[in-house]
Amino acid sequence: MCGIVGAVAQRDVAEILVEGLRRLEYRGYDSAGLAIVETRSDGASQLKRLRELGKVQALADALNVQPLTGGTGIAHTRWATHGEPSQRNAHPHVSGDIVVVHNGIIENHESLRAQLQAKGYHFSSDTDTEVIAHLVHYHRQHTDSLLSALQATLKELRGAYGTVLMDARDPERLVVARSGSPLVIGLGVGENFIASDQLALLPVTRRFLYLEEGDVAEVTRREVRIFDAQGGSVERAELQSDVTHDAGDKGEYRHHMLKEIHEQPKAITDTLEGRITDSGVVVEAFGNSARGIFEKVEHIQLIACGTSYHAGMVARYWFEALAGVSCDIEIASEFRYRKSVVRPNSLLITLSQSGETADTLAALRVAKDIGFMSSLAVCNVASSSLVRESDLAFMTRAGAEIGVASTKAFTTQLAALLMLVMAIGRCRNTMTVETELELVQALRALPGHLAETLSLAGEIEMLAEDFAEKQHSLFLGRGEQYPIAMEGALKLKEISYIHAEAYAAGELKHGPLALIDAEMPIIVVAPNNDLLEKLKSNVEEVRARGGLLYVFADQEADFNSAANMKVIQVPHVPAAIAPIVYTLPLQLLSYYVALIKGTDVDQPRNLAKSVTVE
Ligand code: F6R
Repeated sequence: MCGIVGAVAQRDVAEILVEGLRRLEYRGYDSAGLAIVETRSDGASQLKRLRELGKVQALADALNVQPLTGGTGIAHTRWATHGEPSQRNAHPHVSGDIVVVHNGIIENHESLRAQLQAKGYHFSSDTDTEVIAHLVHYHRQHTDSLLSALQATLKELRGAYGTVLMDARDPERLVVARSGSPLVIGLGVGENFIASDQLALLPVTRRFLYLEEGDVAEVTRREVRIFDAQGGSVERAELQSDVTHDAGDKGEYRHHMLKEIHEQPKAITDTLEGRITDSGVVVEAFGNSARGIFEKVEHIQLIACGTSYHAGMVARYWFEALAGVSCDIEIASEFRYRKSVVRPNSLLITLSQSGETADTLAALRVAKDIGFMSSLAVCNVASSSLVRESDLAFMTRAGAEIGVASTKAFTTQLAALLMLVMAIGRCRNTMTVETELELVQALRALPGHLAETLSLAGEIEMLAEDFAEKQHSLFLGRGEQYPIAMEGALKLKEISYIHAEAYAAGELKHGPLALIDAEMPIIVVAPNNDLLEKLKSNVEEVRARGGLLYVFADQEADFNSAANMKVIQVPHVPAAIAPIVYTLPLQLLSYYVALIKGTDVDQPRNLAKSVTVE
């Protein structure tokens, strides 16, 4: 993962680089560093580097003590893959006058390291990245430019990289390469920039060039030259960004996560806007060619990771039950390496908040080679690689999600997926008009139901106290609430570090019942649906064994608090939208437990927001 920022300008760039890193902290935050080339008054240039363990703020503090001046620089916020988080492993890495920052993994770094050591290179870190610095240094001695040295180096690298380099002897030039990790060039007036994500550069420009896979570029103050994987000169379209984003703005909330939980009614309103009418879903909202594709669909394959995978699991129930189309879901990291049989007229649907998740992107690329009819991305970032590489894209419009634990991205994905189910059902004539109109009504009422559900926050905050001392927990649900139980368990473990597992409630008796005792809290999601009576039996199985139950139950489901069972009444909602509504109390529970435990809610340990390595 890791975030990269680079600048070549006539003004001092240290502050621009640090502000860029702050905006990229969602990509990793175990250490940060920057290197700047300062041109002295006698024309000589001098390389200065600063690296700190911990978050970007530690680097900003160090810069206050030791300011760096200079107009060309590169900076990095790290999420460790090779080598523990430490100052010596923090980027940038240096070999002589060559300086590098890198995002991704160099898979053959061990053999390259041995070859370079044999040539006399000394390694001062445990990172895979340092081989890039030394290789470019080596090739620079046998080539006529930094760009040629980079191109020679790339021929030897195996793996994924977004990388930016500079040469302290040639200070007004950056060279960059993209293969498997995103990079965007920001165009200024008499200055240019580079970053892993346009968000980093919004304070300095709105004009961007997105590098494509295999691209290499040379960036100076006045010029950007781009070459494709074959070395041919290419142009990439200039895009104007209309993203508005202030990563620092938590408003009245203590954490981004809490703000984002409370933003869900508005976020869902945005997701729905212009996409449903009194007569149903607007199929064209999925793209001009969507109708033709949806009419032919015979099978759907969903692919995603983490929270997005849970959204896909819910959608699988919907696609089969509401649109009558067969549907499979698989974790992207498994799909990409498995030999799968593609059924005729299969539509591949990828789900991703960021659109840059390495496994999901790789799965999309694999799918293109093995005969899927078409691909559709459900995504929150319009400029992402996933959107650009898919045939169709449907934006979730959640707005920027800063908290590492995904909240509004998930519920907006679910709302988007329900509309997709309606669109495919309509085009295949497998959904009745009555069902479609019921779903329209349910979706329209959804923001109101979510706002009502958020008013449970006070009650849930009190409940959270019961969990603070617990080591383990179990989440139960049935049908499309099973993935919601999984999502609840993921949220709790991510931000409170309490071990949490989810089970389909009917599966309990096949093993996990052995775990039940008075120390094990069991959280149950119980909307008033067809499976309610079955779920009640499962709850009784737990009660009979002394389990400690917390049941989030529909007001009309006739669940009452009793010894060892606390019931939290959730507003009555139509069954189709219940998975979206029941997500909110579980998000709030994990948030308040984490708050009591004093963890870093927005940036939990070991994680990053966007997982651009496999
Ligand atoms: C959990 C979480 C992760 C992401 C996963 C996929 O709260 O955020 O599990 O859902 O890394 O990320 P995207 O959706 O960006 O592909």
